[in-house]
Amino acid sequence: MLPEVISTDRLTLPLWDARDVAAIRGEIPRSPHWHPDFPRQDDADAATMWHEGDMWGPRSIVRGQTVLGSIGFFGPPTAAVDGVQETEVGFGLVEEARGWGFATEALCACVTAAEAQGVRLRASVEPTNKESLRVLAKAGLTTLRGANDDGHLVFARPFQQAARRLEFAIRPTTEADWERVRAFRIENAEEHPISYGATVEAVREFDEEAWRMRARRGEQPDSVSIVAVESGTGRWIGMMHGLAEDEDGSTPVLAGVYVSKLFRGRGYGVADALLAPVLDWATGRASEIRLWVFEGSQPARRFYGRHGFVDTGRTKPLTLDPSLGNLREMRRRF
Ligand SMILES: CC(C)(COP(=O)(O)OP(=O)(O)OC[C@H]1O[C@@H](n2cnc3c(N)ncnc32)[C@H](O)[C@@H]1OP(=O)(O)O)[C@@H](O)C(=O)NCCC(=O)NCCS
Repeated sequence: MLPEVISTDRLTLPLWDARDVAAIRGEIPRSPHWHPDFPRQDDADAATMWHEGDMWGPRSIVRGQTVLGSIGFFGPPTAAVDGVQETEVGFGLVEEARGWGFATEALCACVTAAEAQGVRLRASVEPTNKESLRVLAKAGLTTLRGANDDGHLVFARPFQQAARRLEFAIRPTTEADWERVRAFRIENAEEHPISYGATVEAVREFDEEAWRMRARRGEQPDSVSIVAVESGTGRWIGMMHGLAEDEDGSTPVLAGVYVSKLFRGRGYGVADALLAPVLDWATGRASEIRLWVFEGSQPARRFYGRHGFVDTGRTKPLTLDPSLGNLREMRRRF
């Protein structure tokens, strides 16, 4: 199932409900949260395709409280000629919201959400619409299929067929891995500093001993450190570690949870495979394990929720940048 609300660093993309659609059709008053130029004609057209309960329908693009446009799938996926499930995606923003990268950010999140369900996306665009062509390219919709009956170019995103074929192994890290750990954590901090809890500049400052200490966690009884390595290429694609205690208490804590962007999604199973040995390690030492997750990281919160972690209601500010929001504590009992 697609999430009801897809979220990105700056935006939320809630699915339209019957009230949204009635308001867009002009049957009930405008929402006070709409940008003055919303809805545009494209949004009104999308409203004609809406069906109650269809998760593959249109969504608002919301920044803060304000609806700036819409993005959505044109209905549930169907099998394409090569047997891959596929649907079309469309998007539009009010003029004032263009040029900030919002369309790319929203589309990338929709691509991730669709591919997590094993669904490939295509989109059609007027050949003269340079901005949209750029957005499609940045979101990886790069395979030109040709033109449709309206003369629009149709692009599809090459499907990560690898999802079904990905072969990887998991193993504990050893001190000898320290340089690989460094390289992987720099990638982690570059792409998602919030999850690593440090900026890439700070991470680059760690000295050799700091990395050796992290790599050794896989060899010591009071910690665990697991890496996922792609078979064949030897590429590192995910890491997680567990510590017996931290400054917040003496129950085991899960941390350093990161899977490379290309290998996220339940279809790959990388995150699941990494978590299992950390849970095994913790089960042997305590009756529960805890973690801190950024409140805005929906994929991580869903992942933990699926594995039995429950929000305890405890929060603390994100040290990296408190203005972004809080960390929330989650616990899982054994
Ligand atoms: C946390 C992480 C390891 C989970 O791995 P994953 O492969 O994404 O995990 P899954 O696909 O099993 O679960 C992610 C869930 O989020 C959903 N999701 C993906 N993108 C989403 C988005 N933009 N908005 C809302 N949900 C989203 C997926 O559909 C999936 O939910 P589902 O299982 O109900 O379909 C991975 O997302 C990651 O490395 N993120 C960046 C680092 C991070 O946030 N670490 C956690 C720090 S506490």
